[in-house]
Formats: sequence, C-alpha cells, structure tokens
Amino acid sequence: MPTTEHCVSVRRLLLVTCVTLAVLSVGSCSGDAEQPSLGDAFRQHFLIGAALNDDEMSSRDAKAVAIVLKHCNSVTAENVMKWVHIHPRPDAYDFEAADRFVAFGEKHNMFVAGHALIWHDQIPAWTFVDEQGKLLGRDAMLQRMRQHIETVVGRYKGRVKGWDVVNEALTDEGGLRQSLWVQTVGEDFVAKAFEYTNQVDPGAELYYNDFSLDKPAKRDAAVLLVKDLKARGLRIDAVGIQGHWGMDYPTDGDLDDFISAVGRLGVKVLVTEMDMNILPAAWDYDGADINMRAELRKELNPYPEALPDSMQKVLTDRYGDLFAILVRHAATVDRVTFWGVTDRTSWLNDWPVRGRTSYPLLFDRNYQPKPAFYAVLHTAGSAK
Ligand code: G3I
Repeated sequence: MPTTEHCVSVRRLLLVTCVTLAVLSVGSCSGDAEQPSLGDAFRQHFLIGAALNDDEMSSRDAKAVAIVLKHCNSVTAENVMKWVHIHPRPDAYDFEAADRFVAFGEKHNMFVAGHALIWHDQIPAWTFVDEQGKLLGRDAMLQRMRQHIETVVGRYKGRVKGWDVVNEALTDEGGLRQSLWVQTVGEDFVAKAFEYTNQVDPGAELYYNDFSLDKPAKRDAAVLLVKDLKARGLRIDAVGIQGHWGMDYPTDGDLDDFISAVGRLGVKVLVTEMDMNILPAAWDYDGADINMRAELRKELNPYPEALPDSMQKVLTDRYGDLFAILVRHAATVDRVTFWGVTDRTSWLNDWPVRGRTSYPLLFDRNYQPKPAFYAVLHTAGSAK
C-alpha cells in the first residue's frame, strides 16, 4: 500500500517532470506564441490579474505590457488610485494616471479593479484635520469621505467593475485598527464607506481587502465584519485576501479555512495582491537601504545575482501548492491578482529593506516565465 508520503512524492515528481517538460517544450521566450496564457488556462476557475505601475499602464514598459496582455484578464492600479495620488489636496483631484489606467483596462477588455478607496495609509495628513490642524468630528469627516467617494467612484462609474472599498481596517489580533478613520468617524466608518460606494455605483462589486486574513483571529474578525455589513442591509460582494505570502505562511489549512469561512457567508474570495517572499524577514531593518549596510548585505540580500536552483525549486513548489488550494476552491475564488508583473519592479525589492533583489512573482527580471509559472499553470488542469 503506498503511504501518503509516497503519494505526495510521486505527485511532486510528476509535477517537476511536467514543469521541466513544459519549460523545454515551450522555450524561454515570454513572447513565444506557444506559451500558454494563464488567463485562458484558468478561465474555467477564476480571473487572473496583475497590479500595474505607471510604466505599464502607459505602455512605456512594452515587455511587461506584452505579459499582461497575454496572461491577464483583469488589472488593478498598484498606486495611482490611492487617496494621496488621486486627491492630493482638499480641492484638487488628479485623475491623469488613473484615467490612463482605466483606459488601458477598457482598451484590452479587462476587468478593471479599483484600489483602494478608504485606507489609513497613503492618505494625506490634511484629510483628517480642519484648517487649524484639529482632528475633524464625525459629521465633517463623513462629508469628506462621501465627497471623495462620489468624485472618484462617480468618475469611473460603470467602468471600474469592482472596488476595494475599505483596505486593512483590522488588526492581526482581530480588533478594529485604531486608525484616524476610527478616531474621527467611529467604528462604523467601514459600513459608511460601503453605503456611499453602493449609492454612487450600484453596479460595481464591493470588496473588503486586507492582509493576513488566513490568521484565525483576523479571519474571524473579517467574518464578523461581513456579517455586520449584511445585518445593516449593506452589500459586500467579496473579501480580498491580499496574498503577500512567504515560504511558511499561510499554512494550507489556514488558507483552506479562510476561503471556506467566507464562502459560507455567500461572499466571494479574491486573492488581490499575490506574491511570494523568499528573502529573509527583515523587520528590524524596516526602511534601511541595503547599500548603506554593507555588513548586512549578504544576510539580508542573499541572492543579489540569481536565485539558486534549490531555492527556485522551493518557490516553484510553494506556488504550485497554494494555487492547487485556490483551484480546489474555484467555486468561491473569483479572481487571483499578482502584485506586479515581473520581479524587476516588485515592491518587495524595497520593503521592508530598500535595494534587495527579490523573486516574488512568476516572471523574472528579464521578463521570462519562471519555473513557478509552469507549476501554477499545471494546477489549472487539476480537478475543481
Ligand atoms: O515614485 C516614487 C519615486 O519617484 C521615488 O524616487 C521613490 C523614493 O522612495 O518613491 C517612489 O514612490 C514609491 C511608490 O511605491 C512607487 O514605487 C513610494 O515611496 C512607496 O511608498 C510606494 O509603495 C507602495 C506601497 O503600497 C505604499 O504603501 C507600493 O508601490 C505598493 O506596492 C504597495 O501596495 C500595498 C497595497 O496598496 C495595499 N496592500 C499592501 C501593499 C504592499 O505594501
């Protein structure tokens, strides 16, 4: 009788063989017409998206755009729709980049996702205070929130198909983050944001988006948040789990439990910001620049030239394993969006330490598909 371990290693061997054959037969050029499209491969399961930076949405980075057009049927703006960019001053909105982004998605018939309407981060300090610098009261702050939502959501009504209405309102321990939103509006600021967005564009999907939702305490808090919105008669279409994952998180079981818990509420799950960090955790050096810390360079930036084969394999297996879980939950998972297009421009090259060489995505610095690409592709054929 084969043991579970035998089955697992036979499966792994088959996967590695498939991946190797795929690499050999497809060749190394990402523009190769033979290369299967991720979007097509996963069409029966969920949408495949990418977060775009300005060079991509304005088509300056032609090679990255080629990847997006081949593999994605959904796009998200990595930064340009955030409050700090789109509404930099009280009476001034800057829609230039966001307009470009929406036009890009429409031109290529993609699902255009809006990120991130209400967030405590990347929002100018003036937002929360009056002219004397005093924290605004509830009514004034709600008015500001409503005006922002009416202006931004209103501008893209019917064109942006879904909004991350509220981003990162929960703590890892399962509480409500005591952000300036809570301090000014109060704990129902999440509900208010959903209410206003729905009023402006009832046709847009509405999402709550956060990281680490696989952690049981935070998952339970997200479940309560959804129930609270529903109890108030408000609509929420999906919960976005960002998916900034690493080699040992989330556990398969926690990811599985999160998707099941949200699915039971009759709400979809989106993986909104997927990438996989293989570099050492470096929280203690948050904000530091690797080039200014020569003594730490090797420790914090261990693969400045290339990822060794052994680590490439770890990354490949990890992507394949997590995608297999997402495919198993395809009835609940509606979209998987990668947070970037290639390793070259990932935010993880500069966070938490600046100047590292990170390998979190499916395409490398030369715009070529990595073995992880083929491991992911392989899961599209696995049973629903
Ligand atoms: O464009 C300027 C450049 O001109 C300047 O020289 C450079 C100096 O630091 O900064 C550049 O702007 C940076 C910008 O990314 C574009 O690269 C900002 O400093 C930097 O703060 C900004 O980081 C973004 C981060 O959100 C801000 O919180 C990342 O790109 C973006 O990927 C990241 O995305 C967030 C999601 O919105 C929410 N979930 C977490 C995720 C990762 O933090």
